Amino acid sequence: SGYITLDSGYKNTGATTSAITFLDGEKGILRYRGYPIEQLAEKSNFIEVAYLLIYGSLPTADELNDFSNKIRLHTLVNEDMRKILDGFPSAAHPMGILSALISSLTAFYPESLNPNQSKEELDLSIIRLMAKISTIAAWSYKNSIGHPVNYPKNKLDYCSNFLHMMFAYPTEDYEINPVVVDALNKLLILHADHEQNCSTSTVRLVGSANASLYSSVSAGISALWGPLHGGANQAVIEMLEQIKADGGDSKKFIAKAKDKDDPFRLMGFGHRVYKNFDPRAKIIKKAADEVLTALGINDPILDIAKELEEAALNDPYFVDRKLYPNVDFYSGIIYRAIGIPTDMFTVMFALGRLPGWIAQWKEMRENKEPIGRPRQVYTGETERDYIPVEKR
Ligand code: CMC
Repeated sequence: SGYITLDSGYKNTGATTSAITFLDGEKGILRYRGYPIEQLAEKSNFIEVAYLLIYGSLPTADELNDFSNKIRLHTLVNEDMRKILDGFPSAAHPMGILSALISSLTAFYPESLNPNQSKEELDLSIIRLMAKISTIAAWSYKNSIGHPVNYPKNKLDYCSNFLHMMFAYPTEDYEINPVVVDALNKLLILHADHEQNCSTSTVRLVGSANASLYSSVSAGISALWGPLHGGANQAVIEMLEQIKADGGDSKKFIAKAKDKDDPFRLMGFGHRVYKNFDPRAKIIKKAADEVLTALGINDPILDIAKELEEAALNDPYFVDRKLYPNVDFYSGIIYRAIGIPTDMFTVMFALGRLPGWIAQWKEMRENKEPIGRPRQVYTGETERDYIPVEKR
């Protein structure tokens, strides 16, 4: 077995080569396929960015049309999936539903289990996944509030269609507001990939065993659910609400976050790789201001968030540890403003991250990477003899 290098949490271990996302945590740079995140967030839309991540270059007008039309035409999910959905109690967390229903796609499309799918077959699996996740996500919300689901409307673009499935009632249309559609596109773009993070590494590890794209992504969704990863956006809003309910004293919570005997952490702060401002947080902070102004919303929680940020950025504890606001610090405030409930925030992260997971899974397959199989340093008992139960 030889000499094993131990690196808990893989802080310094590269698990793969990748040509998808460039991240410089010291300088706060993030680029997808070479394009700066700032330009993509400003000028592109989510479906175009998904194409860029998955296929490596910006699509021509025809390619983009073809890709988005195919996604539109596959948004309907098999009626039998509704039966699975109906089996979940309404209290079920939508992330659990999302992961289960994405996994169930393997049952509806068993050809996806073939590790040697042709390019055309894999493209179809990808289109189905991109399309159906938005329907499943919106339906998981409808289930949680006990409402009938909305079927997708093929004439709508991806984000508008998602908003329709989330918010229309059988008795009332949802009026599409371009400000909301823009904000949603921006948020999804900013979440679309982030190199070898916990959920993406999960997708690659599961996929490295030649598991299907759907099973691998379902595992990634489970990883993303954790509050130290994608669950942080929900945790941020819960924290801000807690601070508000407690009288709004942000200093008190800064002190709690610094106290090593207190498990409380400032959610939405700190990042494994960024030791500088998270470039996504900068864009989202500006977008939060713009969206709230455009929608005429005055959310006291935004003020608390700004106070916390200001206090933390001037506090030696956070400065010394290079803890800055991350992507999740302000995203929840926008989601709230556009009517998305707190327990759907991580589902929104999953919708955004999907193209990244697909791109990384596909790259791993194309590069013919071997099965992932980390080693360990054993610290347990040395050999001992079995003792019958009555003698223990
Ligand atoms: N509040 C208070 N102290 C913190 C925080 C925080 N949010 N984050 C890190 N620290 C302290 C930590 O206690 C440690 O202090 P010391 O050196 O005195 O022991 C030091 O900073 C280094 O932290 P770490 O936990 O060793 O760093 P990590 O790279 O293992 O963890 C992290 C990164 C993101 C899990 C962590 O910063 C954290 O828990 N943040 C809050 C949760 C959060 O916002 N997560 C979203 C991450 S971005 C979106 C995503 O990728 O999903």
